[in-house]
Amino acid sequence: MAALFTPFTLRTVTLPNRIMISPMCQYSAHEGFCNEWHTAYITKVSQGRPGCVMVEVSVVEKRGRGTYGDLGIWEDGHLAGLRALATIIESYGAVPAIQIGHAGRKVSAQRPWEGNGPLGPRDARERGELPWVGVGASPLPVDERWVPPREATEADLDTMVEAFRQGARRAVQAGFKLVELHMAHGYLLNSFLSPIANQRTDAYGGSLENRMRFPLRVAKAVREAIGADLPMSVRLSSVDGLEGGWTIEDSIAFSHKLKALGVDIIDCSSGGIAGPATAARVAVPRGPGYQVPFADAIRREVNIPTIAVGLITEPAHAEAILNEGKADIIAIGRQALQDPNWPLNAALALGVDPQFDRWPAQYGWWLARRAGIPPAPWPGNQ
Ligand SMILES: Cc1cc2nc3c(=O)[nH]c(=O)nc-3n(C[C@H](O)[C@H](O)[C@H](O)COP(=O)(O)O)c2cc1C
Repeated sequence: MAALFTPFTLRTVTLPNRIMISPMCQYSAHEGFCNEWHTAYITKVSQGRPGCVMVEVSVVEKRGRGTYGDLGIWEDGHLAGLRALATIIESYGAVPAIQIGHAGRKVSAQRPWEGNGPLGPRDARERGELPWVGVGASPLPVDERWVPPREATEADLDTMVEAFRQGARRAVQAGFKLVELHMAHGYLLNSFLSPIANQRTDAYGGSLENRMRFPLRVAKAVREAIGADLPMSVRLSSVDGLEGGWTIEDSIAFSHKLKALGVDIIDCSSGGIAGPATAARVAVPRGPGYQVPFADAIRREVNIPTIAVGLITEPAHAEAILNEGKADIIAIGRQALQDPNWPLNAALALGVDPQFDRWPAQYGWWLARRAGIPPAPWPGNQ
């Protein structure tokens, strides 16, 4: 059996295979509510039969939205829609997961296809989308084009810890079995960790210990809200990839702390502290599996399960990463947009499912016949 198709257990939750659909914001929500687009997208990727589908980052405070299209988890009104997504995922046999987050100083952005920059007069004119000011570790803008955020006060920090706690509580209430805390890509929690975004002089800035303080407070609150049965993941930007930034050694030190708090798995991304994580100008060089070394290092040094993500598109590559012990789960992002049946096609490619048995019968019966596999004998009808 290919490693990719072996189960993996975290606390009381078992993924039927090692493939996770990476969280991918659809920028298509209204006031944080999901709609037909989300249910269609989640259905498509769930029908591909991954072990886990992670719903895109859902923001815990309205002011923490990256764009007007972000999914929300900041009020109980969002529960019904989120519950529908969790139900769809589970109905296809995958573990329903959700990422919760807060965009921090990267709020008030255009959707990628509407400019991918800060909101401005044209967005207000064309779509009525007015800009707002973010809150961050320090009043430093993402880059020269962006409005500086307001420096978070002690009261803001207390409010945000509580918002994360409530967000995690809602995630569980909506039926998700794995909750991931977004600490990557330059958003709020990443902005506290990285010395590039955090120049505070209080107990939350300066030393590594101090920069970790607020993210650890949030992690603790989320851990408590989830309860002991369900697993918790943290997505890190393992490195900033910039001079004077957060390093893999910092990620290792931080992951030790997260593990001690009860975090079960680290999802190893990178970049985004100054500019969008998916933009071409990031400093971390990109190639197939470019972030796998981070998942490998954290897994080895901290002895904690990891998720590898980033330009993993070939089943044999995903299989090799697992066999080499570099990660425990493989997250598929954009390749799942191109091929929502990626896990099923991987099972074919790796020889795990030569007869299309894993496919939904509505598709598999026909694809097997097309491939020349004879149908089972008529079972009779008595
Ligand atoms: C459309 C889109 C939306 C994304 N939204 C999120 C998100 O909500 N949270 C997150 O942590 N990463 C997000 N990412 C990053 C992906 O989860 C993934 O880490 C990245 O695309 C690299 O993996 P890939 O090469 O398999 O696409 C997004 C990526 C894309 C393409």
